[in-house]
Amino acid sequence: MDSYLIGLGNNDTKTRHDASVDFVKFWESQAKKLDWFEPWQIPLEWNPPFAKWFVGGKINASYAALDVQKQDKIAIFWEGENEERRSVTYAQLLDSVQRLANGLKSLGIEKGDRVTIYLPMTPELVVSILACARIGAIHTVIFSGFSAQSIRDRIVDSQSKLVITADGGYRRGKIVKLKDVVDTAISDLDFISNVIVYQRTNHTITMNSKDILWDDLLEKNSNTCPPEKLESTHPLYILYTSGTTGKPKGVLHDTGGYLTHVSATFRWAFDIKDSDVYFCTADIGWVTGHSYVAYGPLLCGATQVIYEGAPDYPSHARMWDLIQRYKITIFYTTPTALRMFMKFGDDIPNSFDLSSLRLLGSVGEPINPEVWKWYYHIIGKTKCPIIDTWWQTETGAMMISPLPGLETIPLKPGSGAHAIPGVDLAILDESGNTVPPEIKGYLVIRKPWPGMLTTLWGDDEKYKTVYWSKYKDTYYTGDYAICDKDGYFWILGRADDVLKIAGHRIGTAELESSLVSHSSISEAAVCGIPDQVKGEVIIAFLVPKEGVSVSDSLKNQIIDIVRKDIGAIATPQSLYFVSKLPKTRSGKIMRRLLKAIASNEKIGDVSTLEDGAAVSEIQTAFDELKKQIRG
Ligand code: WT7
Repeated sequence: MDSYLIGLGNNDTKTRHDASVDFVKFWESQAKKLDWFEPWQIPLEWNPPFAKWFVGGKINASYAALDVQKQDKIAIFWEGENEERRSVTYAQLLDSVQRLANGLKSLGIEKGDRVTIYLPMTPELVVSILACARIGAIHTVIFSGFSAQSIRDRIVDSQSKLVITADGGYRRGKIVKLKDVVDTAISDLDFISNVIVYQRTNHTITMNSKDILWDDLLEKNSNTCPPEKLESTHPLYILYTSGTTGKPKGVLHDTGGYLTHVSATFRWAFDIKDSDVYFCTADIGWVTGHSYVAYGPLLCGATQVIYEGAPDYPSHARMWDLIQRYKITIFYTTPTALRMFMKFGDDIPNSFDLSSLRLLGSVGEPINPEVWKWYYHIIGKTKCPIIDTWWQTETGAMMISPLPGLETIPLKPGSGAHAIPGVDLAILDESGNTVPPEIKGYLVIRKPWPGMLTTLWGDDEKYKTVYWSKYKDTYYTGDYAICDKDGYFWILGRADDVLKIAGHRIGTAELESSLVSHSSISEAAVCGIPDQVKGEVIIAFLVPKEGVSVSDSLKNQIIDIVRKDIGAIATPQSLYFVSKLPKTRSGKIMRRLLKAIASNEKIGDVSTLEDGAAVSEIQTAFDELKKQIRG
């Protein structure tokens, strides 16, 4: 296997050593790098599966991210899709954050209240997050591609009092009318007291009685708002993510532990220096944007580029043009984006000056070695280490990654190397034994870590069952992995019913319940099949009700329902109509069998994976279904 001995020359062995001696003390030493108002008394209170980090400590995320930084430094170079450009200093961010924080207070928002944020990728999104944090309101950001129904579900679950949105946002040259979506989402939600509307696109909108314009609110309010001194354990945000059950789960993160984990990993992974220009392509609607656009860079006083629109718009060269123009030094993106850029051809990146780059990152899904090598050669010109970072919405921050800011190690394309210091990972078999090297098993986390979710919003029981019931006092990630003989982790994908479409998490149950809501459909099952760009795409198997005839119009109606219930990201690529779904005797859909059929593969080891079904039954179901699909 190829091995790439590359790093930035850092060789800090003390950090790993300290972490291995006493992980709690170690995380305390990292927490001390943040600005606290009052020190903690208890570094970790661990009542499995509930952890409290830095108990007694007082901190404020917006203060640690803004007030203590060099005020005249650029925090954000913002570029709109239409090439509008803004440079925002730390002082300017702080000014807006304090005005908005006072504005929120004037509208009755208090510590602990939830605020839903549905905005395009503009500096105002960062301002909104930090304004909530300043007064101790809990922000819940919803990706601007989600539908009205999805927003409504999340607002109802979180019982948000207020929504911050924009008139619209730009996507591939078109205006996405965000305010209209919010109006539909909250039309019957009386507990929403106000909607703050930032004017991004300036198209005509209807202003309702609850609506307040962003500019008016900021102008009216003073730019002095002392940060609330919050307990370390105070909730910072809820972020909804899909799981194996019907509705998205509200992952809840605390303040002190989360900020400690995010800032430490930002420093170790990205080797951040005062002169760096960092660019993470993630939308703040996802956890990567929370941890490594909103919080990480600001906590470390970095300068970053935030880009509003589609990565291939108006041309396939958009990313390389940004890197050249802003002299970006650190670029963090997804395998899906890289596979797309690779398909566009080498000539495009080769015609730009990418020599400012010194470090490259990848996140969100497994990166295939061919793409890794392309990234390394064509974008990094063999001089940039690639950090393949594994983590989850629930872990809050990176858990596995090469850490060029700490150490120089050989890289292996497709592996994230080792667990970060202070994190205890293992790979277990079904009965909880550690598997030997090179053997596939379930990736688990054996000790609490500071960025960990504190619970699922309003549902401690579900928190216990989803993550902590498979193994005792051990966090179950839901991923398959192997560890090779050199101790490098390789993530093999999800072990549960979660799909990863272009790196986005979609729950099968959520999608199936949307599909069967069509009056012509009696049953539905979805699976993901490999795709050259998106990693995975969705295939749906549908059983129509008696007497229903399948037509293009029916297909379109069904797709519309999915877009309306969830959003365009959940659109199935193909719909197959079948007379029945293959199930085990206990009634479980044989999803892996569907996957094998849809991707035109043999059943392979399906028999060992579908519990409760005899091999012959599976074979019969497979043959029957295949006949219906493939004729
Ligand atoms: C799931 C978490 C990480 C933040 C964005 C996604 C998959 C994530 C990698 C990686 C292979 C990865 C896992 C994980 N995943 N990073 N580097 N290599 N797989 O967060 O939406 O919570 O999804 O994404 O399956 O469990 P998320």
